[in-house]
Amino acid sequence: MAYDRIVKHYDNVVDTYINLPFYLKHEYSDFLLSYIKPLTLDKTVLDIGCGTCHFSELLNAKKLTCVDPSKEMLSERPLLNNQEKHISDGIGFLKNIHSQYDVIILKECLHHFSDEDKLTLLKLCYENANTTIIVARPNDNQYPWFKKAQESFENNSVKISSLKNMLVELNFSFIKETLLVPIKIPSGQWLKMIKNRFWSNLSYVSDIELLKGVHEIQIRDEKEILFNDKIVLMIATHNK
Ligand SMILES: C[S@@+](CC[C@H](N)C(=O)[O-])C[C@H]1O[C@@H](n2cnc3c(N)ncnc32)[C@H](O)[C@@H]1O
Repeated sequence: MAYDRIVKHYDNVVDTYINLPFYLKHEYSDFLLSYIKPLTLDKTVLDIGCGTCHFSELLNAKKLTCVDPSKEMLSERPLLNNQEKHISDGIGFLKNIHSQYDVIILKECLHHFSDEDKLTLLKLCYENANTTIIVARPNDNQYPWFKKAQESFENNSVKISSLKNMLVELNFSFIKETLLVPIKIPSGQWLKMIKNRFWSNLSYVSDIELLKGVHEIQIRDEKEILFNDKIVLMIATHNK
């Protein structure tokens, strides 16, 4: 998706985004925090593609720098004393910094970078921090939406095998952990999220395809929507 379109997408979805059931699930945040918090406590942390900064604010960093191109996402929460916020794309920001960070976080934002840009971004992370933490929904996740939306998700989300190759190419050492979060939500809420194009892959689906897709889900006549949300966490450090 072109950069301007991504920014517009997030500027428009901020209200629904903060109420996503995924973010309210304890399994999801507890799993991530149990690995990430010990690495960020009293450290300097840069969160690229931070969105609302909701997650990185939980990390007890000594200093937290949040970067995101969406002004609306970034201004959703008040500025904390230990925090800086910058409206910028991640690569541009890293190319212009003059200080190093202990940890850089790339949480659920890598799918917005082309493969070439992913490599550039990860190289800049390698050069500017000791540890890079990646959180992503892999492209083999299956969601109970409609065919076009699933195709668009598969084409526009992170392929873990190619990400691993990039980390190896850049001389990172890394560990990878996977979590399956069981999700159960009323189908009315799921349909509303889809109509609001809650995830950016739905921005590739035309209005007509979205209407047809909503109908495809409605005729299944399910009261509740059940699925496993797969989350991959990778902690990458210098291989020195
Ligand atoms: C799915 S949201 C994740 C937000 C946050 N990290 C979280 O986990 O809640 C993806 C975020 O990536 C940001 N983003 C998209 N393209 C970006 C880029 N080129 N540089 C930095 N951030 C970007 C979007 O604006 C959006 O806030």
